[in-house]
Amino acid sequence: MHGSIITLLKRYVQTQYDHSTWVKLVELSGLDKIEFNHKSVYPDEHVYALVGHAAEMTGIPAEELHEKFGEYLVPDLMYMYQKLVRPEWKTLDMIEHTELTMHKQVRQEHADNAPPVLDVTRISENELMIEYVSPRRMSGLAVGIVRGLAIYYDEADRIDVMPTTYDNGERVKIHVRRSA
Ligand code: HEM
Repeated sequence: MHGSIITLLKRYVQTQYDHSTWVKLVELSGLDKIEFNHKSVYPDEHVYALVGHAAEMTGIPAEELHEKFGEYLVPDLMYMYQKLVRPEWKTLDMIEHTELTMHKQVRQEHADNAPPVLDVTRISENELMIEYVSPRRMSGLAVGIVRGLAIYYDEADRIDVMPTTYDNGERVKIHVRRSA
């Protein structure tokens, strides 16, 4: 997983909980020897271990933690890749264009980067369907990112996010609808 995502996970835990919670998580995950930085790529197992222990510690299911973290990620992701964002885009346009803008750029930056394939069908101005496909099974993160984008574009009260899971989480359809 991209180092930026892990360093943001560290900041998320430090700000939502505290620094000692992060230290405990890193120790429980056996990762205390690692200095995380945004330029490296880390094994996905590191993220599973950190989120898994966070779920045990907080009693919040891992899926829900992924969602909260996805929501938190958005302002930083948008800042990091702002050059690829068109000013006229709102939540649904951003989702529609992620695959060919942001995720395409992420894939080009490092051979080991592997953002999920997002097959997006724009049904109408106010409705789209995302087909998320990833062996990482992190659709909770995808749902959180969609909610985070809605907050970012000040559309949170108009956007409905409805996920349906297939194939044990490797394939998830996420229906996104904006009320008029
Ligand atoms: C807003 C612009 C976005 C940026 C800049 C961005 C960037 C990234 C980056 C850097 C990664 C890490 C890739 C890796 O470690 O190999 C990633 C992963 C991911 N992205 Fe995006 N992303 C964006 C939008 C979205 C959207 C709209 C969704 C879903 C609707 C999404 C879903 C995910 C998920 C679920 C992952 C975790 C990896 C996986 O499940 O395979 N992203 N993204």
